[in-house]
Amino acid sequence: MRVLIKAGRSLARRVLARMGFVAPRRTPIAKFLGSEIKSEVTKPQYDNDSRVKRARKNAKHLDSLLDLRGKHVLEIGPHLGDLSVVLASEYGCDVVGIDPLTHPNWPEVQQHPRIRLIEGDIANPPPLENESFDLIISFVVWEHIRHPWSALQHCQRLLKPTGKKFLRANLYRSAIASHLYRQVKEPWPHLMFSPDEIRARFNRPDLGWAFWVNKLTYQQYLFYFRQLGFFITHEHFWQVHFDREYYDANEQTLGLYPEWDLKTDFFEVVLEFDPRQPKRPIPDPVYRLPKWRKYLARKWLRFQGA
Ligand SMILES: C[S@@+](CC[C@H](N)C(=O)[O-])C[C@H]1O[C@@H](n2cnc3c(N)ncnc32)[C@H](O)[C@@H]1O
Repeated sequence: MRVLIKAGRSLARRVLARMGFVAPRRTPIAKFLGSEIKSEVTKPQYDNDSRVKRARKNAKHLDSLLDLRGKHVLEIGPHLGDLSVVLASEYGCDVVGIDPLTHPNWPEVQQHPRIRLIEGDIANPPPLENESFDLIISFVVWEHIRHPWSALQHCQRLLKPTGKKFLRANLYRSAIASHLYRQVKEPWPHLMFSPDEIRARFNRPDLGWAFWVNKLTYQQYLFYFRQLGFFITHEHFWQVHFDREYYDANEQTLGLYPEWDLKTDFFEVVLEFDPRQPKRPIPDPVYRLPKWRKYLARKWLRFQGA
């Protein structure tokens, strides 16, 4: 019966995706087969209406993927808290937010009885109970985390075995990862020039905190997910800002990076554990090891992740 319901749901989802009502699910195999997704990336506006509209849109998207209602949610990097407010007031979620950067509006946001915001770093968080969250979510935060592996480890620890993690992040080798796109018209300034050269060339003495992003590639994320036992159940890429003309003119420098990396601005995944063996490292199909080495490799991965 459960199988039938699941098949029905999956079929309905595919029909709705075809009709454009929901985002299509992408799996690594879709990527392998060369299917890529293009959509628009808009530069965020920060007036009140735009913020509320964006938070509602993100919440709706999350709900279509994760079924938000009544869930215990950890939001990493809530910043202004707009999404936390929508989740608590419109979806009945209990929300904990963790962000090293507080905002003057936090006392107001926390007047909502279902919201608690904590000043802290997810890579080294204050005490939170193990396996206490149904969902962990983050929008454009992971690129700013200085110890992304530790941060993912803590998420794995804090998630229930049946929990789900939603992660949308910008990738370092994309044309817009410098976060200077409002001021600097050239793509990939962070790959073309040193920070000092950018300061001088574009007259930007202060590069701002958002300039300093970690350098993880998507393949490194995949490796981390695997070690922590996270299966990808939804995957989506944005490839919008690749500038062919600029690339061709600067192939000497940019040609040192894989083109897929230069093309891919953002990724988004939903991560889940295997229900029978939650949080167990996922063996890499690339390796064909004898049984005893496989056993040792698994032990090693576990030891590293401990
Ligand atoms: C670009 S903002 C995104 C804010 C919000 N999620 C949104 O979609 O508008 C990135 C946020 O991540 C937070 N952040 C950076 N490093 C973090 C860490 N180690 N742990 C938790 N949050 C972090 C920043 O302080 C900032 O509020």
